[in-house]
Amino acid sequence: MDDTDTYLLNFKGCNFERSLVNVDLLENLDDFEIRDDDVFIITYPKSGTIWTQQILSLIYFEGHRNRTENVETIDRAPFLEYNIRNMNFIDRPSPRLFTSHIPYYLAPKGLKNKRAKIVYVYRNPKDVLISYFHFSKLVVVLEATDTIEHFMKKFLDGKVVGSLWFDHIRGWYEHKHDFNILFMMYEDMKKNLRSSVLKISDFLEKELSEEDVDAIVRQATFQSMKCDPQANYDLILQKEVGTRNNEGCFLRKGTIGDWKHHLTVEQNERFDRIFQRKMKDFPLKFIWDINEE
Ligand code: PPS
Repeated sequence: MDDTDTYLLNFKGCNFERSLVNVDLLENLDDFEIRDDDVFIITYPKSGTIWTQQILSLIYFEGHRNRTENVETIDRAPFLEYNIRNMNFIDRPSPRLFTSHIPYYLAPKGLKNKRAKIVYVYRNPKDVLISYFHFSKLVVVLEATDTIEHFMKKFLDGKVVGSLWFDHIRGWYEHKHDFNILFMMYEDMKKNLRSSVLKISDFLEKELSEEDVDAIVRQATFQSMKCDPQANYDLILQKEVGTRNNEGCFLRKGTIGDWKHHLTVEQNERFDRIFQRKMKDFPLKFIWDINEE
């Protein structure tokens, strides 16, 4: 374990947020008890985690769908390694939803035995970078950087929570046969939310009526989540995590291609060169622009 960084804790080669991570859990993760009907949302940070938490909660819980139960999304699909509300995972009734940013090699044995399902969501890394830059400036638990250039260096060196984006996605994808896993692309979800909800519910073997699907789609749009305190984490950020100012929110823009407003031509070309080198022969497609098919 690396003890040199104020914000990052390195555990077995992966960076975690030091003040929030549960180290005991990390140390015992291999043997974390997995139930057959558990579902894990796994992402690299800023790739659509909260969105997928909301979609899965809406799929699984009728009381969430019809708003008869007042439970926050974070409690429906808590983070495994960042259990900020000290939830007792063992006492949670099945089916349990979990959320995590862990790399494939830290996954509990039970997941590697294909017990439980995983929904892995990925997003084009230039938008991840920009989203991450803004989020790091907002919350006190991450190191804020003054410029995109400075943050881009850290991101491309993997000196951020979740470590290197390239390693995270490659690791999970190249080991996909060890897991029961569905890969979803943020940009596909953005372009066609309804078919994405159907794809996810199909994978989870959850039958939904037309009205159910309508309710899920309605409550999982960016606009709807941004106005819904149960879904958008703004209060959690302010009251439980801590923010540096009142100027940002968790649901910032929610678009495809915001990187174009932030990266210079030179930064973009540099990013492209690194992307091409690192992702050579990688079969998953990426969408960088809202108009791209
Ligand atoms: S975290 O901190 O890792 O859990 O962040 P994460 O939830 O993965 O990513 C946050 C970004 O996802 C966007 N988001 C959405 N986009 C489209 N539609 C919906 N419903 C939605 N919900 C969240 C959120 O706005 C962040 O992206 P940016 O680009 O910063 O807006």
